[in-house]
Amino acid sequence: MRTQVGIVGAGPAGLFLAHLLHRSGIESIIIESRNRTDVEQTVRAGVLEHWVVELMKELGLGERMTREGHFHDGITLQWNRQRHHVDIAGLTGGKRVAVYPQHEVLKDLIAGRLAAGGPILFGVGGTTLRDLDTDHPAIDFRRDDTGVLETIHCDFVVGADGFHGPGRQAIPAAHRTEYQKIYPFGWLGILTKAPLSWPELIYANQGDGFALLSTRSPDVQRMYIQCDPAGDIAGWSDARIWDELQTRLGTDGWSLTQGPIVQKGIISLRSFVCEPMQYGRLFIAGDAAHIVPPTGAKGLNLAVADVLVLSRALDSHYKTNSRDLLDRYSATCLRRIWKAERFSWYMTTMLHRNAHESDFEQRIHFADLDLVRTSAASARSLAENYVGLPFD
Ligand code: DHB
Repeated sequence: MRTQVGIVGAGPAGLFLAHLLHRSGIESIIIESRNRTDVEQTVRAGVLEHWVVELMKELGLGERMTREGHFHDGITLQWNRQRHHVDIAGLTGGKRVAVYPQHEVLKDLIAGRLAAGGPILFGVGGTTLRDLDTDHPAIDFRRDDTGVLETIHCDFVVGADGFHGPGRQAIPAAHRTEYQKIYPFGWLGILTKAPLSWPELIYANQGDGFALLSTRSPDVQRMYIQCDPAGDIAGWSDARIWDELQTRLGTDGWSLTQGPIVQKGIISLRSFVCEPMQYGRLFIAGDAAHIVPPTGAKGLNLAVADVLVLSRALDSHYKTNSRDLLDRYSATCLRRIWKAERFSWYMTTMLHRNAHESDFEQRIHFADLDLVRTSAASARSLAENYVGLPFD
């Protein structure tokens, strides 16, 4: 097989890239190790920054999102049983975010790609990237059904294959530096069949720590609580989960509306950045290059930002034969990434209880929260980051 851009991974980075390249008349092939059902059903976070909403619409992929997504003008912060509304739209000149989960975005992107006749090969194995420092890179893989070794010859390879994929590992260790922080807590996420309890997302630090109230539809709600990342989900009975959620989200005269819990799971939290994000004709994007803890829901948005930068650079290369923007891909992306890393770390440390931190540091986090309540500059900073920082 031969194409212009070989893309490893049909997650947000790979699929958005394929759509952006198609718009510029650049061909690509996507390969993906999971099958389509797994990709479309993995439960992930769900907030789209303002400009990602606009991009979905521009690409002709926004119809279902506009209909089924929940558009929010603000968020609620809560501590000491008090709530504080942050007027995100008012602080950012009218920008809003959409609560529209990642797997719904992926369904729309996959359907759009297949309808446009763009190839996605699901369920491939043994993916190997080679000849990346030559002008004829290639991707070897086996199709699940035949087991026969196949090769995609291309001009450029994009590793959009997540944290555990082969993309980042294909940059020789001597050519990359990795920065990491592991947090000593995880998130227990649930889906419950219950009506909305509050009209906007609530980020709370109360009782034993963090809780987040989010939504999926008028009758399915998404909630998270801080927990031990090594804990066993079996130790979390439904009664214990509701008890903790009521303690962390409760205010006087208000309680959370409960319902049957239909899904639950624990994730760990980490921050991670790989520098640089390119090597020869390989470019890595999304979780292959960086991870943020989920507080603030920056992961998908950052992945889309990477491939927007990359698509512009590839467009410029094919139109003008200049490698200038491609050579600057990593540096351009990393300026945005480190700011999103900072914001995700700020939201995470401010809103969680950390047994390894002193009482002094815990007090500082409450001061940070109170600063958002009392300082317009602090609230605006949070709001600007939350809706997505402008591109340089
Ligand atoms: C959701 C997840 C987040 O990490 C967040 O900050 C907001 C919402 C969610 O899954 O709905």
